[in-house]
Amino acid sequence: MFGKKKDIPQIDKDQLELIQNAQNRIKQKKRLYIHFVVFLIGAVFLIMANTVLGIGENFKIFELNWFVYAIFIWLFLFIYHLFNVFITHKFMGKAWEQEQLNKLVAKQKDGIEKLKQTLPKEAVPAPKIETTKTSNQALTIIVAAAENDAIGKHNKLIWHISDDLKRFKSLTSGHHIIMGRKTFESFPKPLPNRRHVVITRNSNYQVPEGVVVVSSLEAAIKACASDPQPYIIGGGEIYKQAILVADKLELTRVHESFPADTFFPKVDTTVWKVTNSVIHKKDDKNEFDFTFLTYERK
Ligand SMILES: NC(=O)c1ccc[n+]([C@@H]2O[C@H](COP(=O)([O-])OP(=O)(O)OC[C@H]3O[C@@H](n4cnc5c(N)ncnc54)[C@H](OP(=O)(O)O)[C@@H]3O)[C@@H](O)[C@H]2O)c1
Repeated sequence: MFGKKKDIPQIDKDQLELIQNAQNRIKQKKRLYIHFVVFLIGAVFLIMANTVLGIGENFKIFELNWFVYAIFIWLFLFIYHLFNVFITHKFMGKAWEQEQLNKLVAKQKDGIEKLKQTLPKEAVPAPKIETTKTSNQALTIIVAAAENDAIGKHNKLIWHISDDLKRFKSLTSGHHIIMGRKTFESFPKPLPNRRHVVITRNSNYQVPEGVVVVSSLEAAIKACASDPQPYIIGGGEIYKQAILVADKLELTRVHESFPADTFFPKVDTTVWKVTNSVIHKKDDKNEFDFTFLTYERK
């Protein structure tokens, strides 16, 4: 499960070589261009040195001023340079560049294809928890979560949304409600008309009469065997475990982000699909805009 991540090099040796060659080619052309400009300026300077400043005025070879020979020699060197760039290195010419570019593109496409094929194979399937849930039981998570998945802070809820509390009451009344010890302790007293199932590792945990204490989520689900519609009501630790086995999510998405210390796990939309959605605007009784969302497994 926590196997070592396979290293996929971003760029291989061949690709690096192609890029370096392309860079060399650009440098060669730049140097040639600079040579050409220096040659033009130099030629003008040589002519002026002889004709205006009178340098080597009397030095002639076959009736021609020395600057003519100097310019011809320089021109020859420039042509040699030009020849080197465009003829000697012609294997690195435009066609060569295009060919290398095509190779590079083909290599990248190939790499992307390979990656596409390996991704689904490497995706880690969601772990499954064995449960004693009966087949006609719809184990449902009920939660109110902010845009940043915040659900609580200092063992309290963060907001007051009256309509959400009403909905919670109407859905859960008459059913078993499964919760972690901390959520149970966040209530002033047990909620009326619901069978509380509290999960704790403390085998001596004291609770009011009628409240069931269990030592695991598995045991909690077992304790609800007679109920076709048990609800998992939180908090963060229990949601994290329950989302792997629940059949349904009743999520109130509060359209705001909050600092918090407890969060709901990300809803994986490859696993869950929205089957119902009702938007509500904030008003006197509801502090924030929110949406009731029902998710079912795909
Ligand atoms: N927005 C909402 O809809 C919503 C709903 C519910 C709660 N909340 C908020 O969530 C917060 C509480 O959540 P929380 O994550 O801190 O605590 P929690 O999930 O309510 O309870 C955690 C406790 O449950 C017990 N537990 C968890 N997993 C267990 C396991 N596998 N086996 C045995 N016992 C297990 C442990 O109790 P022991 O330490 O006793 O062993 C653990 O400390 C509060 O802020 C509350 O207001 C928000």
